[in-house]
Amino acid sequence: MNVVELIERKRDGGAWRDDEIRWFIENYTAGHVPDYQAAAWAMAVYFQGMTREETVALTQTMAASGRILSWPDHLRPLVDKHSTGGVGDKVSLILAPWLACCGVRVPMISGRALGPTGGTLDKLESIPGLRTDLSIDEFAQVVADVGCAISGATREIVPADKKLYALRDVTATVPSIPLITASILSKKLAEGLDVLVLDVKYGRGAFMKNRQQAEQLARSLEAIAAELGLRAKAVLHPMDQPLGRKVGNSLEVQEAVEVLRGKSVPDLLSVTRRLGCEALQLAGVAEGEPHAQQLLDTALRSGAAWERFCAMVRAQGGDPEAPLAVAHAYAWKAPRSGILLSIDAHHIGYAVVELGGGRLRQEDAVDHRVGLEFLATAGEEVHAGDDLVLVYAADEAGFQRAAQRLQQAIVIQ
Ligand code: URA
Repeated sequence: MNVVELIERKRDGGAWRDDEIRWFIENYTAGHVPDYQAAAWAMAVYFQGMTREETVALTQTMAASGRILSWPDHLRPLVDKHSTGGVGDKVSLILAPWLACCGVRVPMISGRALGPTGGTLDKLESIPGLRTDLSIDEFAQVVADVGCAISGATREIVPADKKLYALRDVTATVPSIPLITASILSKKLAEGLDVLVLDVKYGRGAFMKNRQQAEQLARSLEAIAAELGLRAKAVLHPMDQPLGRKVGNSLEVQEAVEVLRGKSVPDLLSVTRRLGCEALQLAGVAEGEPHAQQLLDTALRSGAAWERFCAMVRAQGGDPEAPLAVAHAYAWKAPRSGILLSIDAHHIGYAVVELGGGRLRQEDAVDHRVGLEFLATAGEEVHAGDDLVLVYAADEAGFQRAAQRLQQAIVIQ
């Protein structure tokens, strides 16, 4: 087979056969196709799209590029949640142990922060001792013993995506619906799941900037998952403002713990509950929404979800009681009186990156201690000179950088 001829055909609007897609992915993963040709291949897909058959073949081939987990029947149903990424989005930290108390198991393979959106692994690593580099066997053992685990992809899982995603990241080919669909679903198929709920975000702090694009991605994910025998439901959520009141790694773990211990953070709880409800119904452990809500209520109110979180943290080597390190808090004051109209998630995401709490390149180090805490949220009345945001910064210069972003992010009228 000839890569140039394959790229030409797609460039000119043609389609690929399953065996051609398989050949390309296998050879690219093995290092026989160079990055410059793979970049042209990805750009051709970016402009011409893929048919449903092509996307199915790409997803299957990518999943099969590494190990696929298999689980004994007594551990089923296995459920996971995937989010397309947001600012202040600590839903996974709450949902995994919460669902694990409701009759399902949750093997969650998560990712790291990139750009303005946070990453679950970076957040979890704020907990002293906690490991997110479990081997597949360790990961499976924690899922079997505790009911849930959250860890990173190993080299054994979907190596094709690791390589292709890194290439897409630097060639402006991430926002392609078939490529995103295959990237997300190949990793989820490799987890050996029964059920997947997808939290598709749109808006200022998401990579799908409008609802229409998010709907297209949601339909694509559901359709391709269904063809591959995975029960999946996509739920759309706006991501114009950060979720919850805290953004930054340690701070987000703090807020997740507060919710698990019974604190009400309305927007965060509402997104988490909605995804939990869908998952329990799709998994067949709840008959209808009221039943799912009841299972979730019991698990949260009884303290079971919090205990399960502690058990998961301990099983992954962490200490759930250890204090989380946070940097010095500088107060950012409201510049005028009025109603706090909005907090722009895009600027907030970058404010945390510039404090050192996120990364612009995959290899950047992350400072877990920094972040932002909002003392008021949209719709509240604020007064000039009141403390509005606590900026947890390593130094005064970090605070000043964040303050500039806050001036752009916060609208008071
Ligand atoms: N998240 C993924 O895992 N893959 C993509 O392509 C985009 C978002």
